[in-house]
Amino acid sequence: MAQALRPLLVLLAIGSCIAADHIDLWPMPKSVTHGAQRLYVSKDATMSMVGSTYSDEKAILKDAFQRMLDLMKLNHNADDTNRSSFVLTGVNMVVHSPEDELSFGVDESYNLTVPTIGDPLHAQVEAQTVYGALHALQTFGQLCYFDFTSRLIELNSAPWMITDAPRFPYRGLLIDTSRHYLPLTTIKGVIDAMTYSKLNVLHWHIIDEQSFPIEIPSYPKLWNGSYSYSERYTMSDAVDIVRYAEKRGVNVLAEIDVPGHALSWGVGYPSLWPSDSCKEALDVSNNFTFEVIDGILSDFSKVFKFKFVHLGGDEVNTSCWTKTPHIKEWLNNNHMNASDAYRYFVLRSQKIAIAHGYDVINWEETFNDFGEKLDRKTIVHNWLGGKVAPKVVAAGLRCIVSNQDKWYLDHLDATWEGFYMNEPLKGIDNPEQQRLVIGGEVCMWGEQIDASDIEQTIWPRAAAAAERLWTPIEKLAEDPRSATSRLSRFRCLLNQRGVAAAPLAGDGRTAPYEPGPCVRQ
Ligand SMILES: *[C@@H]1O[C@H](CO)[C@@H](O)[C@H](O)[C@H]1NC(C)=O
Ligand SMILES: *[C@@H]1O[C@H](CO)[C@@H](O)[C@H](O)[C@H]1NC(C)=O
Ligand SMILES: *[C@@H]1O[C@H](CO)[C@@H](O)[C@H](O)[C@H]1NC(C)=O
Ligand SMILES: *[C@@H]1O[C@H](CO)[C@@H](O)[C@H](O)[C@H]1NC(C)=O
Ligand SMILES: *[C@@H]1O[C@H](CO)[C@@H](O)[C@H](O)[C@H]1NC(C)=O
Ligand SMILES: *[C@@H]1O[C@H](CO)[C@@H](O)[C@H](O)[C@H]1NC(C)=O
Repeated sequence: MAQALRPLLVLLAIGSCIAADHIDLWPMPKSVTHGAQRLYVSKDATMSMVGSTYSDEKAILKDAFQRMLDLMKLNHNADDTNRSSFVLTGVNMVVHSPEDELSFGVDESYNLTVPTIGDPLHAQVEAQTVYGALHALQTFGQLCYFDFTSRLIELNSAPWMITDAPRFPYRGLLIDTSRHYLPLTTIKGVIDAMTYSKLNVLHWHIIDEQSFPIEIPSYPKLWNGSYSYSERYTMSDAVDIVRYAEKRGVNVLAEIDVPGHALSWGVGYPSLWPSDSCKEALDVSNNFTFEVIDGILSDFSKVFKFKFVHLGGDEVNTSCWTKTPHIKEWLNNNHMNASDAYRYFVLRSQKIAIAHGYDVINWEETFNDFGEKLDRKTIVHNWLGGKVAPKVVAAGLRCIVSNQDKWYLDHLDATWEGFYMNEPLKGIDNPEQQRLVIGGEVCMWGEQIDASDIEQTIWPRAAAAAERLWTPIEKLAEDPRSATSRLSRFRCLLNQRGVAAAPLAGDGRTAPYEPGPCVRQ
């Protein structure tokens, strides 16, 4: 009896929860007002662009609208509404800029209005760029749901007036395809899910010491360092990923992590190793090392069009340099010790990247060791705890926050509440210095991640960080508990859309707690 009763009580509790006034949007927009009218969305809703300067030549908006419609219907075969009033027939998009270049800092703001009067009745989006319009569509998609009684797509609480813009221009997620290969379909799934919570940079940590999965036409033996013949990406696969992401408003940040984390490079070109018995870091004394870096960045610059490239620079163990006779001799001849040589390596690599038109991102050790020598356009990528960002911006450099204690997704004991509460501007009060923090990034390191478990390890915790990075600080929940039910509904929406987002309760990637509705897990 008690067992039969419990689910009923839970359902009643959920029923009353739905009746209560709440705004079911994630991340929370900058400003929202709404009314109390239910609307019905035509299953053949159409998109128009009356008043747009933008022409949608590449069908960025048209395809996004179709995807959103498919997600709203959720394959339930929505009926068409026979009603004569309160039927939303579509969305009109007014996009002011004709440009569709996804440059860093592109205007992502939008206004979304869902009125209750009009003939025909349609929602109105206004945005400076197509990328703001894409965010508006995501918000619109979250307002709509399939109702199983009417069998119609419904939209509650109209009229809606939403004004929105991101707090930070850089809202990233790192994936690691060296520790485990990730198939293209998996990467595309990650990108799709990123757009649902308005993340906009996929940091692709392509290569590391364990494997070199990508084709480099200039040095065709580099991918001999892949795990197997099939665990590889051709350059045209990379083009495919970049195009897929850009079309969804997501930039791809490519990384080569030098001079440490690069052992796999030597499988195809053993002279990149200090010696056959001591294989990291890349041989600093050999000009061939820098020729290869130049070749890789030259090939990258044809594919990865984002303004930034990531050159790593973390966790460099120089003991092979001081132990290997020919490198030791080179150090002596050049009057360098190992830490001088590390600096020399990073700065020479930076110059190569800059010559290919990139601004460089480096992990924070480079700043900690010789920050004043870094190119002034360097963006310092934090990961070691929470203390470096104030120092970086005080030195006038830009910073991305990813402190591992809070924003490393592979730390399964890092809770969503910790992801939510991690404030990138902590300890930075000066507004000019605050602007140098361009955003943050959650990191899905791949040692224990592959296609089988990546989605549930990323979501929903990455979404908690996504709201921190998008929503104005004064609108964020001060206590994460007040965001719990909204995030758990977003998690269920991800599941409905085919994303294997894990339950909120407990550690990352946890299993459902007990029989019960999605939002209670
Ligand atoms: C819509 O109206 C038509 C004609 O009046 C009717 O045949 C049909 O069953 C109605 N559909 C629904 C879902 O009510
Ligand atoms: C949104 O509306 C406000 C107020 O009308 C206006 O100032 C702003 O420029 C609009 N934003 C966009 C992206 O069109
Ligand atoms: C690299 O792979 C090619 C085949 O793709 C093979 O012919 C060559 O011997 C390999 N080189 C090394 C150094 O393993
Ligand atoms: C290596 O490159 C440096 C910098 O371009 C140059 O000064 C040096 O002569 C080169 N060494 C050799 C052995 O070619
Ligand atoms: C650096 O690598 C050597 C082996 O090459 C190892 O003995 C040493 O412990 C490493 N140092 C650190 C700090 O990891
Ligand atoms: C390396 O040499 C520089 C001077 O070139 C010196 O400032 C530094 O302390 C030395 N580092 C070590 C670890 O010996």
